[in-house]
Amino acid sequence: MKVKWGVIGAGGIARRRTIPEVVKHAQQSTIVSLMDVDRAAVKETGESVGISHVTTSIDELFKGGCDAVYIASPVSAHFEQGMAALEAGKHVLVEKPMAMTLIEAEKMADFAENKGLKLGIAFMMRYSVYHQAIREMIERGDLGEPVSGRAQLTCWFPPIPGAWRQVKSQGGGGALSDMGCHCIDLLEWFLGEAREVAAFTGTLTHDYEVEDASTVLLRFASGAQGMVDNFFNVPDQASRNVLEIYGTKGAVLCQRTIGQDGGGEMEVFSQEAGGGYDASQVRATDEYKKIVLEPASLYAREVDAMSRWISEGKKPPISYEAGIRNIKIVEACYQAAEEKRVIPVS
Ligand SMILES: NC(=O)c1ccc[n+]([C@@H]2O[C@H](COP(=O)([O-])OP(=O)(O)OC[C@H]3O[C@@H](n4cnc5c(N)ncnc54)[C@H](O)[C@@H]3O)[C@@H](O)[C@H]2O)c1
Repeated sequence: MKVKWGVIGAGGIARRRTIPEVVKHAQQSTIVSLMDVDRAAVKETGESVGISHVTTSIDELFKGGCDAVYIASPVSAHFEQGMAALEAGKHVLVEKPMAMTLIEAEKMADFAENKGLKLGIAFMMRYSVYHQAIREMIERGDLGEPVSGRAQLTCWFPPIPGAWRQVKSQGGGGALSDMGCHCIDLLEWFLGEAREVAAFTGTLTHDYEVEDASTVLLRFASGAQGMVDNFFNVPDQASRNVLEIYGTKGAVLCQRTIGQDGGGEMEVFSQEAGGGYDASQVRATDEYKKIVLEPASLYAREVDAMSRWISEGKKPPISYEAGIRNIKIVEACYQAAEEKRVIPVS
């Protein structure tokens, strides 16, 4: 039996990616109803995928027979709508960032636990076939002891009237909270929990109140170090959204695996041991091996993973703990940037 999903906020990423990809590729999930405050948008989305139960009322959505709700509205609505869905007895998958504050995220998680309902966070990049391969490589020890990681996600995002991401009270922050959250989540997934962060943020180019530039440094519990860079002021085509993990026996270098496509390019270098010191430092350039994997829909896979949690009790790596952890780190990064010091995180 497929889990029946309702969608809140059906006009943005849900319309571009999650809804059509779930309809086309999901095995354990079906979408039965859609809600958006924009009547025209929800109607159009419904028509594009053949879902007839569309509404502008959240209560109507809950009455539409769904077991679970995917929330893809602006961040400032996540807490209230998440709580309302849980109150109505629905399991919830909420888009990133999970809520505006750590306090809200923790309240939502406690409420879900008390109600015996599942609450997940849409870090769909954990479902990239390439990112899953990196996890396996690290677990197998192919890279030796991981010592360094970098995750980059940038785009060109000029001022747009009415854009909620450009207003702090609606999005919570700019490039760091919007895109950096994915990068931080990935680096913690690969390298373990961060214990210290430092950060620079700034609004260099665009005339809005949130940051369009952010560079974060992380030190992980293992001692490994990481960098996360996110900019709203780099042309889309200029950035390859690199992901790099280095260890004592090798490295994995990716381009464009961080993103919405589920594809990208990956190269791996691995040697048996570090070897002796080579004073000449002459390096061959072709020792990396290209790894080509079949891309898969990140969105269908994340929703199916939630459905399996609901129907089979198999907890996915995107349960609410990941969302809470992420907000904790992002809040520490903003504090580090503001106070110009390294902030410890537990
Ligand atoms: N994981 C990803 O790949 C990814 C990509 C983009 C956005 N997101 C996240 O998805 C969420 C939505 O972002 P977006 O880019 O789709 O935004 P968007 O502004 O493009 O779309 C949001 C939709 O929600 C609707 N909406 C606004 N207020 C609402 C409310 N109170 N209740 C119901 N619907 C409402 C809007 O009419 C619009 O259709 C955010 O949390 C964002 O961070 C995730």
